[in-house]
Amino acid sequence: MTDIRDTFAKVYGRAPEGVWSAPGRVNLIGEHTDYNNGYVLPFAIDRRTWAAVARREDRDIHLRSTFADGEVVASLDALDPAVMEGWSAYVLGVAWAAADAGVTMDGAFGLDILIDSDVPVGAGLSSSAALECAAGAAFNDLWGWELDKIALARLGRVAENKAVGAPTGLLDQAASMLGEADHVVFLDCLTEEARPVPLHLPHEGLGILVMNSNVDHEHATGGYGERFASCALGAKELGVASLREVDRDGLERGLEVLDAETLRRVRHIVTENERVLQTVDTLAAHGPRAIGNLLNESQASMRDDFEITVPEIDLACDTAVSAGAIGARMTGGGFGGSSIALVPLEQADAIADAVRDALARAGMREPTIFTVTPSQGARRDS
Ligand code: GLA
Repeated sequence: MTDIRDTFAKVYGRAPEGVWSAPGRVNLIGEHTDYNNGYVLPFAIDRRTWAAVARREDRDIHLRSTFADGEVVASLDALDPAVMEGWSAYVLGVAWAAADAGVTMDGAFGLDILIDSDVPVGAGLSSSAALECAAGAAFNDLWGWELDKIALARLGRVAENKAVGAPTGLLDQAASMLGEADHVVFLDCLTEEARPVPLHLPHEGLGILVMNSNVDHEHATGGYGERFASCALGAKELGVASLREVDRDGLERGLEVLDAETLRRVRHIVTENERVLQTVDTLAAHGPRAIGNLLNESQASMRDDFEITVPEIDLACDTAVSAGAIGARMTGGGFGGSSIALVPLEQADAIADAVRDALARAGMREPTIFTVTPSQGARRDS
């Protein structure tokens, strides 16, 4: 890949002041629990988005990328989430979210920004959070915000909710900001407390395959918003502030007061929160080889109760497990995107081949399969 500093110099005619980057994420387990104030267990992946930045003398942001033509120009004095469009909304949205949260922008100067990325878009690996967090990390350093990582993650989420219009939770941005090599991030979305949990994958000879179904997903519209609404309805009918408060007894009560569909949605959230906690305990007590069933149960719950998987994902997961994976499940918002399989490294290629063959035999789109390594979160690179 061409060095982003060279490309910046070509585009803007001078060297950047620095380069910041942030990764995409895979969620190991804990799906759709984040906006229900529950638990999640993601990790940052070794695919990143970079922002090369230099300050300007005015208060304009000039934004370019290596993946789209043209330049977006916006004044820091007229940031408006209602009119932000396309990929630039993720960057400008973070600046707006900070101002909206009361972070002073009085001393902020304009910036020339160039974005580059190798996080696949539309794969359910949070290319959007990578962009928000790379921008947030750069703004934080250059404009002297002095915000901590979770506060920056929060700004990314607000950008996503308000500037992009997707009612998502804190999962993606927390993973992108807080990720560490060979660790998952255990995040309690109610208290926003997070701690790294060791995975010991290399030590165990394990790897994680991402199986991108290449079925596109979209969170600003459609199924994701419907699930968000179902969860809100379930909480309201059960008389709780969020589904985080519902336990097995609450589910029993749900049998009486909820319609069948809402009950299934609520059951996924309640059991998924349990599975996240069990995964954290199991990792500590027995290591990653022992979490296979939890991954598989999560996949079944997303398929049958939350109904957010697609046939391509179900077949990929079932095939991976039959071919020797320790466990497999969809990751991310659903309705397409990617699934993951926890695999013994020496079987990774055979499992990937088995999945490709099974999908081909079923007449489905060819998946893109690659390994990911749990990696460091947002940082300044140079
Ligand atoms: C998307 C959202 C996250 C989370 C997941 C589902 O990735 O951006 O906030 O809700 O879906 O777990």
